[in-house]
Amino acid sequence: MKRIIIFDTTLRDGEQAPGASLSEQEKLEVAHQLVKLGVDVIEAGFPISSPGDFDSVKKIAKDVKGAVICGLARSLAKDIEAAGAALKPAKHKRIHVFLATSKIHMKYKLKKAESEILKIAQSAVKYAGKFTDDIQFSPEDASRTEPEFLFKVIETVIKAGATTVNIPDTVGYAQPDEFGGLIKAIHERVPNINKAVIAVHCHNDLGLAVANSLAAVKNGAGQVECTVNGIGERAGNAALEEIVLSLLTRKDSFKEAFTNIKTREIYKTSRLVSKLTGFVVAPNKAIVGGNAFRHESGIHQDGVLKKRQTYEIISPEIVGFYGEGLVLGKHSGRHALSERLKQLGFSLNQEQLEQAFIRFKELADKKKEVFEEDLMSIVEEQMKGLPQVWSLSGLEFCGGISVIPKAVVSLKKKNEIFKATSDGDGPVDACYKAIERIIKIKARLLDYNIQAVTKGKDALGEVNIKLNINKEEVSGRSASTDIIEASVKAYLNAVNKFLFKKRKFRQVQL
Ligand code: KIV
Ligand code: ZN
Repeated sequence: MKRIIIFDTTLRDGEQAPGASLSEQEKLEVAHQLVKLGVDVIEAGFPISSPGDFDSVKKIAKDVKGAVICGLARSLAKDIEAAGAALKPAKHKRIHVFLATSKIHMKYKLKKAESEILKIAQSAVKYAGKFTDDIQFSPEDASRTEPEFLFKVIETVIKAGATTVNIPDTVGYAQPDEFGGLIKAIHERVPNINKAVIAVHCHNDLGLAVANSLAAVKNGAGQVECTVNGIGERAGNAALEEIVLSLLTRKDSFKEAFTNIKTREIYKTSRLVSKLTGFVVAPNKAIVGGNAFRHESGIHQDGVLKKRQTYEIISPEIVGFYGEGLVLGKHSGRHALSERLKQLGFSLNQEQLEQAFIRFKELADKKKEVFEEDLMSIVEEQMKGLPQVWSLSGLEFCGGISVIPKAVVSLKKKNEIFKATSDGDGPVDACYKAIERIIKIKARLLDYNIQAVTKGKDALGEVNIKLNINKEEVSGRSASTDIIEASVKAYLNAVNKFLFKKRKFRQVQL
């Protein structure tokens, strides 16, 4: 049996997805959850890329225990120094150095010959050795690199001290049989390969990131790099939950390879990442999509009732998805709420529990039945941990056919109340215009998405939005039985995030 190392890059490659940027506090929250999930390595960021990224990696290195904390660096001394400095507080740290090795990247991007690339890679890995013994090297665009040259690069960096060699399919070009073949060839052709772990890092441009990663595992890869919900550059990275569940469900096909992932944390982690990045999970997404465990057709329902396994290869509980079970009603007390929240994996202190109880009672007054998803939504909202520069204090709106929609919004900042009125194309537009008048920050609405948290007319509506403020994309999310209120709160959530992040933002291109 072989343990496959799970290297999570949600906070680095995942956060590189346009519009997915997270605040330091949010990254820390995700990192803590990744430890609960049981990942082995957390790639916390790319420290040289911005002061914000540097600070986040440092904070994670300091506060997050229970996983190796990794920082990315180009093969440049200043990048490696920044990674070394940011990772200093970590008990177990890894520096991940990369350098492109494919002909197209060497010729057009780096303008360097093979011999120069070999030298740079070698000295970058040696230099990283000043900061840690745990060094990962990635020949970027490996799947399009001339195999003979790739073998040479790998041999050179292992000699220089790399303990993990990561083979990225940077542009998602590989096919499973050839990618598996490449990993096999690396085993056969690189003489010192037994001194390092072979990792793979696959992108999803052709929808093959997971298939390619699994083909690599079958051919001897010992580490898989992935992200929660598969987020990442362009079409994203291999989805952690899909890799883990394939290995678990089809042990027979992977010679019993296993991971340390606590699968019951998967659904919660997926929701957290979706909430904080503002990337809604598609209903048909494998493992964590809303429909992943729903059976609609009569024939399927009949089969499942007779024997679940007729149409269900994974039981939803394994990934911590408990469906829409009715959990609590209007008359349930604090104790019942606290017990239910514990079962859902939330451990709240007394004050947080009190706040959750107040919100639960408000919701139970509006809604006859409170489901698990409702509870998760309440607690997640409350635990955003973001300073509330602006909060909603009052809201009135009117609209209808042949009536001009109008909104009156009152917002609170510190202890002062500000009020503005506006009309608009609809009640949401009117509210957003009124907010803009108060906060005096120009924002362009890039995306607006609403979905019911559970079934029924009285379901909570969850609104996800994306704003462009000062050329920066920020996401916001909120839930309420009143969708206009949820829309307003989602907008304020995005604005508060922007204000929180503003002082740290500066970006460097990969
Ligand atoms: O996709 C890629 O090649 C990368 C490297 C930095 C590993 O993300
Ligand atoms: Zn990548």
